[in-house]
Amino acid sequence: MDNKRYGHFDDQHREYVITDPKTPWPWINYLGNEDFFSLISNTAGGYSFYKDAKFRRITRYRYNNVPMDNGGRYFYINDNGTVWNPGWKPCKTPLDFYECRHGMSYTRITGRKNGVEASVLFFVPLKTWAEVQKLTLTNQSKEVKKLKLFSFEEWCLWNAATDMENFQRNFSTGEVEIEGSTIYHKTEYRERRNHYAYYHVNTEIQGYDTDRETFVGLYNEFANPDAVMEGKPRNSHAHGWSPIASHYIEVELQPGESRDLIFLLGYVENEQDKKFAAPQVINKDKAHATIEKLNTTEKVDKAFAELCQYWDALLNIYKVHTGNDKLDRMVNIWNQYQCMVTFNFSRSASFFESGVGRGMGFRDSNQDLVGFVHQIPPRARQRIIDIASTQFPDGGCYHQYQPLTKRGNNDIGGGFNDDPCWLIFGTVAYIKETGDFSILDEMVPFDNQPGSEVTLFEHLKVSMDHVIKNLGPHMLPLIGRADWNDCLNLNCFSWDPNESFQTTENKSEGSKAESLMIAGLFVVTAKEYVELCKKLSENSKNSEYSEEAKRMQVAIDAMIAAVKKDGWDGEWYLRAYDFFGNKIGSHECEEAKIFIESQGWCTMAQIGAEDGMVAKALDSCKKYLECEHGMVLNNPAFTKYIYEYGEISSYPEGYKENAGIFCHNNPWVIIGECIAGRGNDAWSHYAKILPSYVEEKYQTLHKVEPYVNCQMVAGKDAAKPGEGKNSWLTGTAAWMWLTVSQYILGVKPQYDGLQIDPCLPTTAKEYTIQRKFRDAEYTITVKNPDGKESGVKQMIVDGKPIDGNIIPYSAGKHAVEVTM
Ligand code: GLC
Ligand code: GLC
Repeated sequence: MDNKRYGHFDDQHREYVITDPKTPWPWINYLGNEDFFSLISNTAGGYSFYKDAKFRRITRYRYNNVPMDNGGRYFYINDNGTVWNPGWKPCKTPLDFYECRHGMSYTRITGRKNGVEASVLFFVPLKTWAEVQKLTLTNQSKEVKKLKLFSFEEWCLWNAATDMENFQRNFSTGEVEIEGSTIYHKTEYRERRNHYAYYHVNTEIQGYDTDRETFVGLYNEFANPDAVMEGKPRNSHAHGWSPIASHYIEVELQPGESRDLIFLLGYVENEQDKKFAAPQVINKDKAHATIEKLNTTEKVDKAFAELCQYWDALLNIYKVHTGNDKLDRMVNIWNQYQCMVTFNFSRSASFFESGVGRGMGFRDSNQDLVGFVHQIPPRARQRIIDIASTQFPDGGCYHQYQPLTKRGNNDIGGGFNDDPCWLIFGTVAYIKETGDFSILDEMVPFDNQPGSEVTLFEHLKVSMDHVIKNLGPHMLPLIGRADWNDCLNLNCFSWDPNESFQTTENKSEGSKAESLMIAGLFVVTAKEYVELCKKLSENSKNSEYSEEAKRMQVAIDAMIAAVKKDGWDGEWYLRAYDFFGNKIGSHECEEAKIFIESQGWCTMAQIGAEDGMVAKALDSCKKYLECEHGMVLNNPAFTKYIYEYGEISSYPEGYKENAGIFCHNNPWVIIGECIAGRGNDAWSHYAKILPSYVEEKYQTLHKVEPYVNCQMVAGKDAAKPGEGKNSWLTGTAAWMWLTVSQYILGVKPQYDGLQIDPCLPTTAKEYTIQRKFRDAEYTITVKNPDGKESGVKQMIVDGKPIDGNIIPYSAGKHAVEVTM
């Protein structure tokens, strides 16, 4: 097998270093932490946006194009007729040296050609609505170099969806202003928009271009723009068509001399009454202010140092030292980094998610925040409130909402019956991390309607009720439009290829379609809810909470009984009942006899553990689902479209929801293994989808970024097993984090303190964890002299043995010794 490597980890700098620009697929990174965001590939492709990749796209990008990864922030260097880019693309002039370092919210791309080095540091400073591009040019040759430098950005006309289609309008609306070394993009500012963008450089320029065709030449490409090739800017002023921003700068460098140029791509919003400085002239005050803050190397270096400190602090909250570099780097760096990214972007913008399709998912965001909550709890808190505000009074929920407006997305609507449970999942994780019960008293509306506010606790209650009130003939949860598996559309019945399985009318009236995945999810989350109610009753001495706990316990017991009676297939849990009440995921079925989701959730819920069901189900996962690259979603794959099942059977064998390795759900089984105390099995499943292990073996086959998880790896029935797709934005990040931090390494936040309950491979002998938790800081050493898989024998906190395995919370520094 082709085992070529394109890069390697640099743990000390927390970077992935790419040494060959021709990676098997663009390998990207994310810049920005709160409002202003950018995607950047290893050849400087990608785009920027403010908050919302659909409604506030700042620069243009072309998905799925030829050549691949088209559009970005490009620097062209014309060195006496040789034209090249530091990131190799778009000119693709062979470089003497190339390197891309993707780090924590920054990327540094360096190229060298004919004795000139160009190194660009890209990042978004904290609390700033701009991307900094610090370009350092160095003359490493023995001659004087006279370089002609061109920068390049292409503006998007704000709404990324209409930008791609409404050309009859778009080609007439584009407007720019040029002031000194700053090019302003102000399309539609004259009417309803109060925002503009700008591209600045901190030096005098010798020319510019703002009209794409004038700069590039109608029959040229980004690889050979007329202006660059001739070394002559056109000083064009865009009126309609496609506005761009390009600076032209002449740079003379003595041998050994080096020069920094700071480029700034920024975004501004003005108050309605302060939009204009003069008729037709935009008010540039805020742009000037941001430029002023970042117009020297010193200021930029300081902003960069602040960003690095920010990440130091975030990554100091949970740190492990096991001595296994492959594990340590994922836990300490990349898994946590990916959790921040999924928290920020949900499933909206990646190189597989176009930024126009989906906003924030109700279920997705609740899961993402569980991977993020230890990093910045106040942001997770706000997210919970935002999500809950899109719930309906009956507990159902909008499936998605737009980050800019925070409104539920009407195009897709609701009716995904797993959604409500995830709100409990997210909220409980937040309270356990922070101890902040006050979130439950927050007044939160339904469907964002003023006047409909109830407490967040009330939202949790209606969430649980939504499941209980929507049970089917076997007393199992009705699936609705779909459960976690968006493609198991049991009430859809579509023969029209133009219908979306996701949005087409749902014929759930009279449906018997029930989900075992929701059954397991309900038991897990309802147990959390019961524990929460008991805690609230203890805290408040209010008997209503203990009554509520009792009420829900009855529902849990009933659900467990229903699963044991009608949800067990003999060797594993069934997946579902279809519209007509027929079994799905049973040995009686022709194809797809077993599915992963119900195994994961029912084993996490421990349903029937006492009767051996959990162990059998976990064994069946190993026997039927596991392969070289992880566990597939179902087995065998569907080989034909089944009208009653919907999208799941629309995919070719081994891809996506049809027997792909949908990484997101592997951790469910792994956690099931951990709860069952089977450390060796848990570890072997985990290592199969751990990026650092994949990185070592399969860079070429896997294709996508080797430093993060992807949503899907082609399964054993696929034409190319092991090929990865849909990198970055996947619930896998949060679940991998939960798995390793809380279940394998076993440090679990609880209401009263940190619980230590590792589940290890027998080869693990010792490791240390630094964990900040609320106002405390723990150094936890776990020793496993006898090679146990689970079970804590003894715990010593600050020199004193304690009963049980929960470190009672108290502020300050503590040393904990754990023996398995
Ligand atoms: C996608 C969706 C997620 C869904 C999963 C399985 O990742 O974002 O909501 O659960 O696919 O269909
Ligand atoms: C597709 C995908 C699924 C995703 C859904 C969201 O069906 O297969 O993974 O969750 O679209 O719209």
